[in-house]
Amino acid sequence: MRKKVLVTGGAGYIGSHTVVELFNAGYQPIILDDFRNSDESVLDGISQIIGSKPELLRGDVCDTNLLSKFIKENEICGIIHFAAYKAVGESVEKPLNYYQNNLEGLVAVLKVVSMHPEITFVFSSSCTVYGEPFGQKEVTEKTERSIPTSPYGYTKWLGEQIINDVFNSNADLRLMSLRYFNPIGAHESAAIGELPIGKPNNLLPFITQTAAGLHDQLTIFGNDYPTIDGTCVRDYIHVVDLAEAHVKALDFLVKESKGCHEVVNIGTGKGSSVLEMVRAFEQVNQVKLNYEFGPKRAGDVIEIYANVDYAKELLAWQANKTITDAVRDAWNWEKLIRSIE
Ligand code: WQD
Repeated sequence: MRKKVLVTGGAGYIGSHTVVELFNAGYQPIILDDFRNSDESVLDGISQIIGSKPELLRGDVCDTNLLSKFIKENEICGIIHFAAYKAVGESVEKPLNYYQNNLEGLVAVLKVVSMHPEITFVFSSSCTVYGEPFGQKEVTEKTERSIPTSPYGYTKWLGEQIINDVFNSNADLRLMSLRYFNPIGAHESAAIGELPIGKPNNLLPFITQTAAGLHDQLTIFGNDYPTIDGTCVRDYIHVVDLAEAHVKALDFLVKESKGCHEVVNIGTGKGSSVLEMVRAFEQVNQVKLNYEFGPKRAGDVIEIYANVDYAKELLAWQANKTITDAVRDAWNWEKLIRSIE
C-alpha cells in the first residue's frame, strides 16, 4: 500500500521532479498547487513518466480550511513544502508578495503538522541562508548563517527560524530543512523541466533560451571576481539528484520514531564557475553560445559550494549526476518545448 505524501507546489520545477521520484520510490504523491507559478501541462509530463495522472488538490497553500479538510479526509505520512516564490530579483521589487506568500504558506502548513505529529515535514530551504560566506567557500550546516541578500533569501532564513521555534515548542515533531544549492537540468525523458515564467533570472535557463534564439546573448555578471576565472562559483546540482534527496529525507523522517529537527545541505560538494558552465554547455551540446561580460549583479555571492558529508551520513544520499548530464538534459528539454530539432 503506497503511503500518501502531500507535495505543496508539486507542479513546480523541483516539485514535479520530486513527485516523479516519490512515485518511483513507492509513495503516493498528491500535488497541492494553484498554478500561479506553474503550468498545468506539467501534470501530463509527470503522467508520461510514471504512467498515471498524479493526484491533484487544486488550491492555495495558505488556505487553512482547504488543508484541514484534506487532512481530515486523507491519512498522509508527510508534507513536502515547495510552494513559494523563488526569484531573487523579483523579491527585491515585490518584497511584500514574498513575505506574505512564502511565510503565510509555511505557517499554514506548520499549523497542520503541529496538530498532527504523525505527519512529517520537509522544507525547501536554500544555500542563500549562508549569504556571502566571506572566503569560506565550502559551507557545512554548522557554518554561521549570514544576512540574506534579498527578501527571497530572508523568507528562507526566517522560514528555518520559524521551523526551529515550532520544534522547540513541540519536540515530538519530525522536521527537516533541505538547503538546496543551485538546481539545474531536467528529467532525462524531457517530459518535465524548468519552465521559467518570463525572462529567467537563473543562469542555465538563460543559457538554454539564448541557445534557442530567445535572447541575443548571455550577459555574464562580472568577470573580475577573486575566483578561478573571475566569474562567480556555485554548486550546481541536477534537479533529479535533488528530487531523490527529498525521497531520502522523507524515508528518514517516516522511519524516525522520536521527534527530530534536521538541517541538511543538498549539493554536489563541488563548485563550478559561470564560464565553466557556459563551456560545458557548448562542448556537451556542440552549440556556440553568444555571451558578453557585463557589470556585477548586486547581491551575488562570490563563491559558495556545499560540504555534503552530513547528507551522506544522515540520509545515505549523494549526488550522482554530473554537470554534463545537467547541461545535456536542460538543452534537450529546451529543444523540445521550442520544437527545435
Ligand atoms: C548563478 C550565477 C550570476 C544569470 C539563486 C537563489 C538560490 C536558488 C537559485 C531558487 C551568478 C550568474 C546568472 C545570468 C549570469 N533559488 N548569472 N548571467 O543567484 O546563485 O541563486 O537561484 O532555487 O536560492 O539564491 O543563481 O542562476 O541566478 O546565478 O552571469 O543571466 O550565474 O551572476 O554568479 P544564484 P543564478
